[in-house]
Amino acid sequence: LDNGLLKTPPMGWMAWERFRCDINCIDDPKNCISESLFRDMADRLVEDGWKELGYEYVIIDDCWMSRLRDEQGRLQPESFRFPGGIPKLARYIHDRGLKLGIYADMGNYTCMGYPGTTLDNIEIDAQTFASWGVDYLKFDGCNSNPVEQMLGYPLMSKALNATGRPMVYSCSWPVYQGGLPPNVNYTLLGDICHLWRNYDDIQDSWDSLQSIIDWFSNNQDDLQPIAGPGRWNDPDMLIIGNFGLSLDQARSQMAIWAIMASPLIMSNDLRNLDNSARAILQNKVAIGINQDPLGIQGRRLLKEKSQIEVYWRPLVGSTSALVFLSRRTDMPYRYHTSLAKLNYDAGNYRAYDVFGGSLVKGLNATTELTLSINPSGVVMWYVYQETQYKEETETLHRAK
Ligand code: GLA
Repeated sequence: LDNGLLKTPPMGWMAWERFRCDINCIDDPKNCISESLFRDMADRLVEDGWKELGYEYVIIDDCWMSRLRDEQGRLQPESFRFPGGIPKLARYIHDRGLKLGIYADMGNYTCMGYPGTTLDNIEIDAQTFASWGVDYLKFDGCNSNPVEQMLGYPLMSKALNATGRPMVYSCSWPVYQGGLPPNVNYTLLGDICHLWRNYDDIQDSWDSLQSIIDWFSNNQDDLQPIAGPGRWNDPDMLIIGNFGLSLDQARSQMAIWAIMASPLIMSNDLRNLDNSARAILQNKVAIGINQDPLGIQGRRLLKEKSQIEVYWRPLVGSTSALVFLSRRTDMPYRYHTSLAKLNYDAGNYRAYDVFGGSLVKGLNATTELTLSINPSGVVMWYVYQETQYKEETETLHRAK
């Protein structure tokens, strides 16, 4: 949706994958879906260096609502868990230079059974969110039929626009249509939404992550061309810092999300994050690649018999990023290649190893390369022409 918002993929934090529908604030006050959870995460974003890196959205997911609308028919938060109401939370978040996201569902009920936004409620819900100071709406699609969705998603886009408040509009519609054309009309989605979930929910496991990477790559001919400034595919939240990924697997998610121009929306516990997860999520070059102003989604170039996959993304100023992902389960694999084999033109190049931190100089396109790639891990390179060294690119600048 071309209205000036999300020229680059959104960055922030969302409750769902890590905190789900924990509404038990009596037994689990630190982790239940409540205003104090979102305040805690806002504090961490500001105080632990996330905000200055671009992580700015704090997004409420399902299970924030009361079971009943108020007398005026408006959605309302469950008052025991959100005693100050959403406007107060929005103020807290805005006071810290952050933005607030919220969740609703095009249908009779949300996925967890809270009040849905039926067609007749779309306008009032859009107005309510605007009046509360919401900056981002995730609009899910549980408990509706295809006709309701076809009417409801464009209607919500209009209703949000009509409020006059700039709000990011995230549409889960494609998930409920199988994610691919011809069932999904991605031209229409690009006109009405800023981003969209295409595929299954991420879970806290390498299996889940692999299935997502495979689905997006296997369908890249349909999905890659539709992405760009103001219109992003959303393979779901970053699970780095939780329980299911090894260090190498965490780097793999960050690398592939950067290459795919995916939203960098973490769902983890920012209050308890180990240093390795923090370093991956705060890697400035990986973030710079993800946030590249051209906004071209990368592609899987090669899927080798050796179970090495190579991904490539063109970046501003004729620079580029490469990811070498190992799907092996044995030992570090020594992969032989050259830039020429990866379609690079003749020239003199440098490559910055994004997670290793070293610079490879004096490369030309035919230089024989041997990369050691850990099982379920990546090597990620930021590649630029030697002649661009003096100017240095914005991405490397940001790394310093
Ligand atoms: C769906 C969405 C998830 C999450 C849950 C909440 O499964 O895809 O991201 O919002 O609903 O119930």
